[in-house]
Amino acid sequence: MKSLLKKLAETPGPPGYETGVRALIKEEIQPFVDEVWIDNLGNLIARKGRRAEDGLRIMLAAHMDEIGLIVTHIDQHGFARFSPLGGISRASVRGARVRFLNGALGVIGFEHDLDPGRLPVFEQMFIDLGASSRAECPVGVGDLAVFDRALVEVRGRLVAKALDDRAGVALLVELLRQLTLQDVHSPHELYFVFSAQEEIGSRGAAVAAYQIEPDLGLVVDLTASGGTPKGIKMAVELGRGPAIKVRDQLTIADPRLVSWLVSAARQNNLPYQLEILEKGSTDAHAIQLARSGVPVGGVSIPARYVHSPSEMIDAADLQNALLLLLAVLRQPLDLA
Ligand code: ZN
Ligand code: CO
Repeated sequence: MKSLLKKLAETPGPPGYETGVRALIKEEIQPFVDEVWIDNLGNLIARKGRRAEDGLRIMLAAHMDEIGLIVTHIDQHGFARFSPLGGISRASVRGARVRFLNGALGVIGFEHDLDPGRLPVFEQMFIDLGASSRAECPVGVGDLAVFDRALVEVRGRLVAKALDDRAGVALLVELLRQLTLQDVHSPHELYFVFSAQEEIGSRGAAVAAYQIEPDLGLVVDLTASGGTPKGIKMAVELGRGPAIKVRDQLTIADPRLVSWLVSAARQNNLPYQLEILEKGSTDAHAIQLARSGVPVGGVSIPARYVHSPSEMIDAADLQNALLLLLAVLRQPLDLA
């Protein structure tokens, strides 16, 4: 999974411009699915299997897009002003390298006359593309960029931009591969949705859920974690197992799904934690509101420094999340 994740994380895919990531995923999953299509918003959707009598139609989702920036203005000295696409961490972007979809590279700088002790707002930041006039600037208004960072491994921990949510994407791709290689006969009709535009409000997942009409939605995404010096108080830590979503800012996970996941973890001796995320949400909130409503839940990968150029996860958590999903999808689930 690591080399796939490296490829995925290093490919740019800001909201609405998921083309490159989507092509990569499509190529990877093609041998393992029964049907695959791309919808009007650019979601990549794949079906595997047909529902048995005791099975459900389950939508599994991980988002393809990543936070990015969009140029709003180029000044006369060739500096680009921008606004964020998604919740970019302002504390982490000074000196960050960004890469535009046309390949141009830049560095984020801050204006100097800032209020000391306060984080600058995006209007007080700029991208330096090495140009000295507007005419020299290799990008223009409306061009998009993402952070430019290679994935590195730090003692079993993976650090990269866009682990949110390429970690989830890599996991779902690997899940498809394992279901096929292990010849798992799931009673469920599985829809794998690699969703578009999550970072600007889960727009892809909303229309995907409408098309699929799932009985159940299961989202794989990152969650925050405690355990860093004076960090947030959260009972989720890196390396202690996947986090089963109980609630986040916009979603109450269906209690039946929570208990299925917990008992699957226990039966298979897999480590797990319970996720109560006070700030932040996932595609689950859009899926639950499709049509007449969908019970949802999530398996989340504990992470640090989310929405910065160096997001960090533990490779063992990713592997255990895969095993947990494999375990839960083997068994019949009864929503009645
Ligand atoms: Zn995410
Ligand atoms: Co995110």
